[in-house]
Amino acid sequence: MSTLLVIQAHPHVEKSLSLAVGTRFVETYRRTHPDDQIIIRDLYTEAGVPPLNDMTMAAWRKQKFDEPMAEAEKTLLQQHADWLDEFIEADKYVFINPMYNHFLPAEMKQYLDLTAVAHKTFKYTPNGSVGLLEGKKAIHIQAAGSVYHAGGKWGIVKFLFRRLFKIKSNESSALMDLGDMYLTNMLKFYGVNQVEHVYIEGADAHADQREQILARALTEATTKAKVF
Ligand SMILES: Cc1cc2nc3c(=O)[nH]c(=O)nc-3n(C[C@H](O)[C@H](O)[C@H](O)COP(=O)(O)O)c2cc1C
Repeated sequence: MSTLLVIQAHPHVEKSLSLAVGTRFVETYRRTHPDDQIIIRDLYTEAGVPPLNDMTMAAWRKQKFDEPMAEAEKTLLQQHADWLDEFIEADKYVFINPMYNHFLPAEMKQYLDLTAVAHKTFKYTPNGSVGLLEGKKAIHIQAAGSVYHAGGKWGIVKFLFRRLFKIKSNESSALMDLGDMYLTNMLKFYGVNQVEHVYIEGADAHADQREQILARALTEATTKAKVF
C-alpha cells in the first residue's frame, strides 16, 4: 500500500482549472489504486501552513541550547514536526496550484520551506548535498493564464535568443514559469527524481479555447493518474 499526499495551494474560488484537473487526477487515482491511502493537505485552510517566523526561530534556538520553551513555542515546533513527518512518510506527491506572478502561491513556498530540513529530506556530504527521499515520485498540476510550455526545448532556445538580441515578443517560455522550475528543483534536491507535470495553460489569454484547454488537461490527468 502506498500513500499519496495531495498538497493543494489554492484559494477556495469557483471554476478553478487547477482544482478541476487536480480533483480528476485524485479521483482517477482513487479508483485505480483502491488499496492506497490518500491524504489531502489544503494549504488554504484557516490554520494555514506552520510559519517560519520570529517564534519559530526563537523556538529552534531554545531547542538547540536546551532552554525552556513557552507552550506556544512547543505547539509550533510540534506542528512543524507533524507536517514534516507527513511529507516524509508519503510515497507519492501531487502538487496543485494556480500560477501567481510567474511563481507558486506564497503558501506553497511556505510549505517547501517547512519541508527543506537537513537530515530529514536532504543531508550535507563532503561532495555536496544529497536528497533523502529517493524512490518517491511527484506530479505538479498547475493552471496559468498564458502559455509557457507549448514550445518545449525549442521554445526555451527561442526565448534565450530573443533575450540575447533584445527582440521584443509577447511569446513566453518555460523559463518564465519560475514556480514549476523551483518546485521541480526542490523535489530533486530532496531526491524525488521522477517529477511529472500537467500544465493547464492559456485559458485567460485565449478565453475562447477554455473548454478545449480544460478537456485536454483532464484527459492527460486521467491517463497519468492510472499509472502513477
Ligand atoms: C494574483 C494572480 C496572479 C497571476 N499571475 C499570473 C502569471 O504570472 N502568469 C499567468 O500566466 N497567469 C497568471 N494569473 C492567472 C492564473 O494563473 C490563471 O487564471 C489560472 O487559471 C488560475 O488558476 P485556477 O483556474 O486554478 O484558479 C494570475 C492570477 C492571479 C489571481
